Amino acid sequence: MTSTNGSALKIAEDTYQVSTPLGLHLESNVYLRIYRNGSQQLNMLIDPGAKRHLPALQQNLGSLIGGLDKVNVAFINHQDPDVVFNTAYFQELNPKLFVLCSEDTWRLIDFYGLNPRLYKGVESFPGLRAKINTGQLIDFVPSRYCHFRGSMMLYDRETRVLYSGDFLGGLTYVESSYVDDRHWEGIRTFHQIYMPSRQAMKLAVESIRNLDPKPILIAPQHGGMIQGRWIDYYLSKIEKLPVGLDLIAYEHLRENYVAMMNEVFMELNRLLGPEEFAASIKHLRDDGSFTTLVTFDQNGFSDFKGDPNSMLDSFIDSISRRHPNRLERIRQILIRVILSHSLPLPGQLLPDNLKPDKLFT
Ligand SMILES: [Fe+2]
Ligand SMILES: [Fe+2]
Repeated sequence: MTSTNGSALKIAEDTYQVSTPLGLHLESNVYLRIYRNGSQQLNMLIDPGAKRHLPALQQNLGSLIGGLDKVNVAFINHQDPDVVFNTAYFQELNPKLFVLCSEDTWRLIDFYGLNPRLYKGVESFPGLRAKINTGQLIDFVPSRYCHFRGSMMLYDRETRVLYSGDFLGGLTYVESSYVDDRHWEGIRTFHQIYMPSRQAMKLAVESIRNLDPKPILIAPQHGGMIQGRWIDYYLSKIEKLPVGLDLIAYEHLRENYVAMMNEVFMELNRLLGPEEFAASIKHLRDDGSFTTLVTFDQNGFSDFKGDPNSMLDSFIDSISRRHPNRLERIRQILIRVILSHSLPLPGQLLPDNLKPDKLFT
């Protein structure tokens, strides 16, 4: 299913990923779908991306369709700049460029100065299904509040590729175009940061499960594409994942802190090596300031007493005393993992310029 054309990656018939990885944790994917019927051709760009993607788009669209000005339609999942920024530029190059998106999204991307006469809200298509003038059918599949209320996925019925926008996207911790089980950490973290609630994700998963025929490839706007058996694998993982509001809701707060601490331990194990990590844990267990507040079981960190900030402060003090030379790296791990669980940073991890005494003197 994969072949390359220049640096474009062919992902299905007449379908390409036309952005090129930039070596970032948050990579954006731009897709090109070429619809053909005899001599007729319509070029649709899905989520046109941002300025940083233009060199790759220039090269890839140049070789595949003859230039940036040959894009006829831009489909926009939602209004975020990583999705939509280039659209106005594409419309400057081709003043007939047509924009397809939800009405909620249009209300916001209108501010980019797009031509309102060349826009159609997908809600105006009966049954949320459109027939391209080359004959192919596309479905618009709402993914409400994943992460915007007007987010709209695009299902190409001919190739059975679902363009899912941010939903089912992931941070790039593992570099490969298609996901396997190693990608969960990046997908989980991305959803816990950007998705507002598990309930919204469950509805989106249900809409994907209801697609007939079933998609054979899910092409998100970030991270790896999901194909074959990995589709069911990730749909069932994502519908169970607490995210956003779930994580700060009281009933999940303790569970969230415990999960966060276990993730910190996993990362420290990687950083320090199993032996030094075990010694550090022993040190933590022996250190009255930490072990009086927390309990461990065979699975690791299992619970803590009292207020989470005191527990975290005490943990940071203990681990800092034990590893004064690796302090910066440990701080980075803590900041990343705490934020990925949507938990507040304790005062001692805040950058100096955000500490309250610097804001209010
Ligand atoms: Fe977004
Ligand atoms: Fe995005």
